This record gives sequence, C-alpha cells and structure tokens, in this order.
Amino acid sequence: MAFMVLTLVRDPELTPELRAELLALWVDVSQAGGAVGFVPPVTADQVRPVAEAQVARVAEGRMRMLAAYEEGRLVGTTFLGLNDHYLMTHWCTLYTVMVHPSLQGGGRGRALLNEAVEMARDLGLDALRLGVRGGLGTEDFYASCGFKEVGRVPRGIRVGPGEERDDITMWLPLN
Ligand SMILES: CC(C)(COP(=O)(O)OP(=O)(O)OC[C@H]1O[C@@H](n2cnc3c(N)ncnc32)[C@H](O)[C@@H]1OP(=O)(O)O)[C@@H](O)C(=O)NCCC(=O)NCCS
Repeated sequence: MAFMVLTLVRDPELTPELRAELLALWVDVSQAGGAVGFVPPVTADQVRPVAEAQVARVAEGRMRMLAAYEEGRLVGTTFLGLNDHYLMTHWCTLYTVMVHPSLQGGGRGRALLNEAVEMARDLGLDALRLGVRGGLGTEDFYASCGFKEVGRVPRGIRVGPGEERDDITMWLPLN
C-alpha cells in the first residue's frame, strides 16, 4: 500500500485532543465536498455542535467510534450507531465514514470500512446499514465492499435551492 502505517483504533479515549481532531477532520472533509452531513462552505462553528452531539452519543454507549491514525494524527473515522429499538438491535448504521481529503484514494477508506465490518461482527451484529448521498459515486465504493442498495428516496437530500440528491440506503448482511 502507498500509505504510511494506518492504525485503526476501536473506541478511542474521548480526550479533548481527539474531539478537536475530529472537528478539524470533519470540517476539512466537508469543505472538500464530502457527504458527511454538510454542504460547503462550512465553518467549525457549524460542525462543532453536530460533532459534539455525536461524541456524546459515543460517551453514552449509543454509538461506537472507529478512528484511523497515521503518524499520530487522526486521518479518518466512522461511527457505528446502535439501535435503541428492541426489534432492531441486531444491526447498526454506519455514520461519518470519512478520510482526510489530502489522503483519499490511497486505500484507507477501504481499510477503515473493513475494520468497521469486523467491529460490527465482534459486537455480534447481523448487518450494517448506511445512508449515502447520491451523485458522488460513493455508492460504488460501498458496493465494492459488499454493500447492496436496498432503497433510494429520489431527490431526498436538498444540497441547495432546487438542487437535490438521492438518499440511498445500503445494506451489508454479516453472516
Ligand atoms: C468515501 C471515502 C471514505 C473513501 O475513502 P478513500 O480512502 O478515498 O477510499 P479508498 O482509497 O480506500 O478507495 C476504495 C475504493 O473505492 C473507490 N472510491 C473511493 N471513493 C470513491 C468515490 N467517491 N466514487 C467512486 N469510487 C470511489 C476507489 O476508487 C477504490 O477502488 P479500488 O480499490 O478499486 O481502487 C473518502 O473518499 C471520503 O472521506 N470521502 C468524503 C466523505 C464522504 O463522502 N463519505 C461518504 C459518506 S456516505
């Protein structure tokens, strides 16, 4: 692989440093047009409450975090959102799959996703769900990792006035 050693850490300690790095990563990915809940231009002030709410869910045990480090720096993440509803506790939803824009295209996203799948297996889950914003080709990335499209809300995501993208649901059975 072309990248330096990527270290994947499950459930990293939620230190102030980690929170700051997560915010910076989330802003950089969003600014580069990544589909992680925002549309550029975005500021740290816009992303901060969303990032803090997500870290709070991790702290409460409702979400699990997977962090990717390279040379001691946070370069990627994903989050496994567990279901509260007792009829749906056998699967989870992946959120905020992202790799720093300066490092995309080098195989890190695939490594991150593979580890998220293993993490879900180790949690005893039967399947993974994922929401994808259409129009970026990202669904092809997930399809190459085994996910199948199981639903699509046409123009369900409004990225600007009169400008909508499909809201695609993808699913990966784990057994
Ligand atoms: C999506 C993302 C996590 C992939 O990470 P990455 O490190 O760039 O991906 P990889 O280098 O591991 O690529 C894996 C494969 O997917 C393909 N791929 C990656 N991003 C793609 C995209 N946007 N469109 C089409 N194919 C893509 C690559 O070509 C590669 O295929 P290959 O192994 O056959 O060469 C990363 O590009 C990213 O952070 N994007 C912005 C945030 C985002 O939109 N996240 C998705 C939320 S649903």
